[in-house]
Amino acid sequence: MLPMFRAFGLGVLIGLSHAGWILQEAEVLPYSANRSSWLLHDKVPAEHPVEFTVALKVDEDRHSALEKVFWEVSDPKHPKYGQHLSLDGITQLLAVPDSRVGLVKDYFEQAGATTVVGPNKDVITVSMPAAAAEAALNTSLSFFKRPEGSDRRIVTASTHYWLPEHVAREVVMVGELLQFPHLSTAPLQKPVQGSGNWPNSCDDPGCSGLVTPAVLAQRYKLPSKSDAVAKNSMAVAEFQGQYYKDSDLSSFGNSCQRDVKVDKTIGGDKPVPGVEAELDIEYIKAVAPEIHLTVVYDNQFSLLSWVNQITSLQDSPLVHSVSYGNDEKQQISAQYIYTCNTAFMKAGARGLSILFASGDQGVCGRQGCGKRKHAPFHPDFPGDSPYITTVGGTDFKGSDIGEETAWSASGGGFSNYFSIPEYQKAAVAAYKASPDANLPPQRLWNNTGRGYPDVAALGGTKTPYCVAVQGEFAGVAGTSAACPVVAGVFAKLNGLRLKARKPPLGFLNPFIYQNPSAFQDVTSGKNSATRKWGFTAVKGWDPATGFGTPDYEALAKASMSIVSDDQTVVV
Ligand SMILES: *[C@@H]1O[C@H](CO)[C@@H](O)[C@H](O)[C@H]1NC(C)=O
Ligand SMILES: *[C@@H]1O[C@H](CO)[C@@H](O)[C@H](O)[C@H]1NC(C)=O
Ligand SMILES: *[C@@H]1O[C@H](CO)[C@@H](O)[C@H](O)[C@H]1NC(C)=O
Repeated sequence: MLPMFRAFGLGVLIGLSHAGWILQEAEVLPYSANRSSWLLHDKVPAEHPVEFTVALKVDEDRHSALEKVFWEVSDPKHPKYGQHLSLDGITQLLAVPDSRVGLVKDYFEQAGATTVVGPNKDVITVSMPAAAAEAALNTSLSFFKRPEGSDRRIVTASTHYWLPEHVAREVVMVGELLQFPHLSTAPLQKPVQGSGNWPNSCDDPGCSGLVTPAVLAQRYKLPSKSDAVAKNSMAVAEFQGQYYKDSDLSSFGNSCQRDVKVDKTIGGDKPVPGVEAELDIEYIKAVAPEIHLTVVYDNQFSLLSWVNQITSLQDSPLVHSVSYGNDEKQQISAQYIYTCNTAFMKAGARGLSILFASGDQGVCGRQGCGKRKHAPFHPDFPGDSPYITTVGGTDFKGSDIGEETAWSASGGGFSNYFSIPEYQKAAVAAYKASPDANLPPQRLWNNTGRGYPDVAALGGTKTPYCVAVQGEFAGVAGTSAACPVVAGVFAKLNGLRLKARKPPLGFLNPFIYQNPSAFQDVTSGKNSATRKWGFTAVKGWDPATGFGTPDYEALAKASMSIVSDDQTVVV
């Protein structure tokens, strides 16, 4: 497959300049006041310590080489399938010159920073007092807070930032300066009301009529017992101070007869149990109790910082579930997207699988629908990145465990940034040609964009998931629930493969699009959210539910009969 990504980052060099300084992230418009859902709070004191990541330029030919490896090792039909690179292998492939690393490192150190160069030498983490950072970046830093008055606050630039020309030439972007994290709150329903017509398999009466581990096991044909396999691993990512309490996990595990515990935590300072974190942990473990679970906690509340974190680990967990997306479109610069995608490719080339929830506002994206009646849909990033797997949401069609229908708020659509990747060309074309698609007017969506989600799982509000959170049982819905379930399924498939001495599945989409019949197709419902138009689920792939929901038995077969594996047995 040909590299499909052109280096956006080069735009930096033709950005605005003043007296030898270059404007970075030029696509981001100036905002000196309140932005997004964060409110400008206060100036940052001069001595306040700040930390950010500087993404170094990767030469275009090296970037293309990374992308080539990414596609080759991820495509079950390619002879190099499964021949993943090591952490050092990535460093060698990227070959960022030492002179570039040294120049940027020196610049920040001379400005008063301590620096840590990432293992792939493409990222430098910089820590320094706020005033020194303001001088080094010719910007001004402020605290931003949430309107609801929580004590959470983040430091970002309240104006553009600039770098001296000779430094800007070597840098793609400085992360965490202009992005705001999206605060998704998985909708929590208390008291719980479940309309499902099935016996409650958990001891707590609060789970009655809700989705439980047993409901998922029945619908997705999960085995009643799976063997633990050495080296198999999975992780959930948590941001925004979302933590978990062991007592909640054990009350869920005891009530619903699953072994739910966290094996390892990376980062994380305040043990404040959060709905998102407890949902993710309880349900990835409900599906895959036998697999070692890491919670990766990112204290910068930043997707970029998170993906740098997981790609810097020597033994990164093999599957990563992320139920967070980015905030509004205007916070995304081409450089940011470029840098995230490069990191996603690094992860895939290493054999890691990354799954993101597709969002809970249907075609409106996390930005919401807004008031304009004919406003175009809002595709979500990273949901629409071609380099990750995106998970949508469904509801049961009836009140029994059976056929599913698209949840009306399942995030989905077509990207405005990325063209249709090779792996989904046929699926997307078939969707657009489907007589049942009832496509929305063309002005609302991008006909040349990457379609998402890729797959789906239960997540709708008709029968929320039963979750033990903050000392009680509650119902939680959203693609936030669907994502860890699908992640757990793929982690189990990795278990089968590792046991047979085959490499892990890595970046999943080529495998998924080559095996549509391993999913239970969802052929009704529409993700219009609160609007008139949305995408309708049809036979085959659609931008509401992807190929549908997992059929573990079929997936197990498909994942164990990959022809290229014969060439790549891991010894
Ligand atoms: C930011 O929003 C708050 C609350 O809505 C408001 O009180 C404040 O004046 C705004 N600040 C600016 C600079 O617009
Ligand atoms: C940026 O640099 C210019 C001079 O080149 C200076 O006048 C201005 O105050 C600086 N701004 C900040 C926010 O440091
Ligand atoms: C549609 O998507 C393509 C990428 O496939 C992009 O280049 C183009 O700018 C997008 N159009 C709009 C109107 O956003």
